Amino acid sequence: MSNTKARLPQPAASEHVALKARNVSFSWESTPLHWLPGDPFATHTINVLHLLLPAGERWFVHVYKQVLPLIRDERLREDVIGFIGQEAMHSQAHDEVLPHLREQGLDPTPYTAQVDWLFEKLLGDRTLPPGRPRQWWLMERVALIAAIEHYTAFLGDWVLNAEELDRRGADPTMLDLLRWHGAEEVEHRSVAFDLFLHVDGGYRRRVRTWAIAFTALVFLWQRGARFFMENDPTLTDGRARLRDFHRAGRAGTLPTTGAMLRSIPRYLSRDYHPSRECSTEQAVAYLASSPAATAAETRANGAL
Ligand SMILES: [Fe+2]
Ligand SMILES: [Fe+2]
Repeated sequence: MSNTKARLPQPAASEHVALKARNVSFSWESTPLHWLPGDPFATHTINVLHLLLPAGERWFVHVYKQVLPLIRDERLREDVIGFIGQEAMHSQAHDEVLPHLREQGLDPTPYTAQVDWLFEKLLGDRTLPPGRPRQWWLMERVALIAAIEHYTAFLGDWVLNAEELDRRGADPTMLDLLRWHGAEEVEHRSVAFDLFLHVDGGYRRRVRTWAIAFTALVFLWQRGARFFMENDPTLTDGRARLRDFHRAGRAGTLPTTGAMLRSIPRYLSRDYHPSRECSTEQAVAYLASSPAATAAETRANGAL
């Protein structure tokens, strides 16, 4: 709690949404391996989410449970509890895609074993003495999550607006998973940053942890896409090349390189606040029409 409130970046407008986890479920039987027809590269680049998010979002929850006792603001505490509920559900929903990939001959275990090690061991609690070292490590991880959430909101906003996926006949169940998740990322995009500001907020820490998160995401993503392309049983010479990524960005089936680069100075700007990114209205509108989210709502109302 090193910064005074007056010097902290402030939200753009008050558009606070009470966060709730939606107990969604998806059935994958009729989803083809290349759920974006004829485009294994874009399919697998997006599929990397299923490799990273189960362990990554479980780790968010693990870290945030340790931060809860440090929160001195009731509304922020409620937001963090809502965030924990949503991320736990995201992690589970992406995890449930993995058996479907296995059934189609694409076993992700060699990759997910490394991702599990990364989040559970390298980024885990470590045996640190109580006091400053333990507190430092907790603050580093809180800041890392804030940086990662800048990108989950970026991706959420992208997928909500990626009409090219609809035009190319993307599998509706996969699209709904991605857009339900993306919409909740947009909905809760300020929580991780607000929590970071509340418990630390240091600018040098923000920059340092952004650099670590960005480098790790780029590294893990290109490795994941390569892993899928090389192990896809239907491809004889599956490769993931940077030029394919640029091409898919221009075609609208992946985010553009330019949009990704432009997002960097925004996060590093001293007055950055996630509320100035994306559209809550669009996210809420999608959640009101998402097949999975509305089915979850109906089930929840029926159980009352
Ligand atoms: Fe998430
Ligand atoms: Fe998130």
